[in-house]
Order: sequence, then structure tokens, then C-alpha cells
Amino acid sequence: MMGNTLVATYFRSSVIYALLGMALGLHMAASHDHGQMPTHAHLMLFGWVGMTIYAVFYRLYPDAASGLLPRIHAVLAHAALIGLVVGLFIIYGGDPEGGDPIAAISSIILVLNMVLFAVIVWKGTR
Ligand code: HEM
Ligand code: HEM
Repeated sequence: MMGNTLVATYFRSSVIYALLGMALGLHMAASHDHGQMPTHAHLMLFGWVGMTIYAVFYRLYPDAASGLLPRIHAVLAHAALIGLVVGLFIIYGGDPEGGDPIAAISSIILVLNMVLFAVIVWKGTR
């Protein structure tokens, strides 16, 4: 039950990130201004592909979805991705000083959160 909620939330948010990323991709293509490419790339690959991989993992290993750690990881994953994307959007929108702190903090959370996911994966696949 708990695991299913986690899986559904990852799948549902991944398609939202995909739609936002594709809208940005279309905007870049139509305007012939590819300046937001890093923002688009991270929305697509982390937002769509990464979140889908989380969903598939918890579907394959339902026991790994129980407990507090997967919940903490999920909240931080969304917060860090949104922070990274907003930070990149501001940076490549022409305000590097404004976006940098947001992107930097989010990136650090993202890396530490991947350590947490590594722990979840190793525990869950024993
Ligand atoms: C509506 C669909 C999409 C549109 C209109 C679109 C548009 C674009 C555009 C205009 C660029 C910049 C290309 C350049 O300047 O070299 C780009 C780059 C990129 N796109 Fe998309 N894209 C779409 C879907 C996707 C999807 C589905 C993914 C991945 C799952 C993706 C991943 C990337 C990546 C990783 C880059 C950066 C490539 C590099 O580093 O050279 N895009 N996209
Ligand atoms: C701590 C997390 C991350 C940080 C700090 C980070 C940072 C960066 C930076 C600085 C670039 C170069 C952007 C440029 O100037 O062109 C980049 C490019 C890229 N990153 Fe990340 N990234 C992170 C996570 C990820 C993840 C998780 C993925 C995929 C799942 C990813 C996929 C890409 C791709 C495909 C590019 C090339 C696209 C482009 O050049 O715009 N990154 N990243």
C-alpha cells in the first residue's frame, strides 16, 4: 500500500516533469534559442528518466519501499530537482549570480540524496 503510493507518485510526477521539459524543448526549438538546454536536459533526464527509474525500482523491490528512508529520499529528490531546475533556469536566463546559490544547494542535496538512495538499494536488494 505504502509502496504503491510511492511508485504512483514517482510515475505521476515523472510525466509532469516530462511535459514541462518538452514544453521548454519546444520553446527552444521554436525560438532558435537553445540557451536553456541544461535546464531542459536535467528536467528530461532527471525529472522524467530518473524519477521513472525510482518508480520501477520500488515496483521491482516492493520491500525496499517500506520505512522512513524511502519517504525522506522522495521528498528530497523532488525538492532538489525542482531547486536545480529553477536555479539553472535563472542562470541560463541571464542571472548567474541569482541562480547559482539555488543550483549549488540543490546539487549538494541531490548528491547526498543519491548516497541515501544507494543505501536504500543495497539494503533492498540483499
Ligand atoms: C518535445 C520534445 C523535445 C524537444 C522539442 C526537444 C528540444 C531540444 C533542443 C532544441 C535541444 C538543444 C539542442 C542543441 O542546442 O544542441 C535539446 C537538447 C537536449 N534534449 Fe531535448 N527535446 C525534446 C525531448 C527530449 C527528451 C524526451 C529527452 C530525454 C529523455 C531530451 C533530452 C535532451 C538532452 C539531454 C539535451 C542536451 C543534449 C546535449 O547536451 O547536447 N529531450 N532538446
Ligand atoms: C548534483 C547533480 C548535478 C549537477 C550539479 C549537474 C551539473 C551539470 C552541469 C554544470 C552541466 C553543464 C551544463 C552546461 O553548461 O552545458 C551539466 C550537464 C548535463 N547534465 Fe548534469 N548535473 C547533475 C545531475 C545530473 C543528472 C542526475 C543527470 C541525468 C540523469 C544529468 C544530466 C546532464 C546532461 C545530459 C548534461 C548535458 C546537457 C547540457 O550540456 O546542457 N545531470 N550538468
